[in-house]
Amino acid sequence: MASFDSDPLVYLHVVITNPDGKQRDDPQTAFHSDTFHSTAKAWFFLYDIDDEKGPFTYVAGSHRLSKERLAWEREQSLAASEHKNRLHARGSFRLSRSEFSKLNYPDPTRFAVPGNSLVVADTHGFHARASSGRPSVRVGIYGSLRKNPFLPWTGFDPFNLPGLRGTQARIHMAQKDLESRLRGKPGSHRYAGRILATDPPSY
Ligand SMILES: [Fe+2]
Repeated sequence: MASFDSDPLVYLHVVITNPDGKQRDDPQTAFHSDTFHSTAKAWFFLYDIDDEKGPFTYVAGSHRLSKERLAWEREQSLAASEHKNRLHARGSFRLSRSEFSKLNYPDPTRFAVPGNSLVVADTHGFHARASSGRPSVRVGIYGSLRKNPFLPWTGFDPFNLPGLRGTQARIHMAQKDLESRLRGKPGSHRYAGRILATDPPSY
């Protein structure tokens, strides 16, 4: 349902890591589930991602709602809103390594992949960006398909309509841009560089 017949949000995704201790911790390096329902994410990596560049890491089988997982989700749902981790409190639950055995999870798999690899994941399952031990750049085309789980239908997606298809990223960015202007401070996503990936090539 998460990935059926809909137009994903797609953009160029560049992760620059410079582990010199001056940056804030990258919140994506903690194992987490994006939300309580299945959702699809994909990365088409344009260059080799070797194991030291902070590859995508996934806990195999953690997308399934086992009895243990349901009990754990319920436990979190009762207390999460007061959790000190802002992202956990918002419903993107973090899972510490000490809790892996409680949920019968195996060690995570690291997806160090060659360039031109497409990695697709149900990010209801636990995943993280492995931390990088040295400065690195990770470049990929990122896609996300996360629909409203309360819609009583699958399929019909207004962003699939002619004229709207393929525009989600621009609409999303325009909204983020407007939000940060109204708040008067820069948001977490902002335009960078001189041209957009969708602009015609310049020579
Ligand atoms: Fe995530």
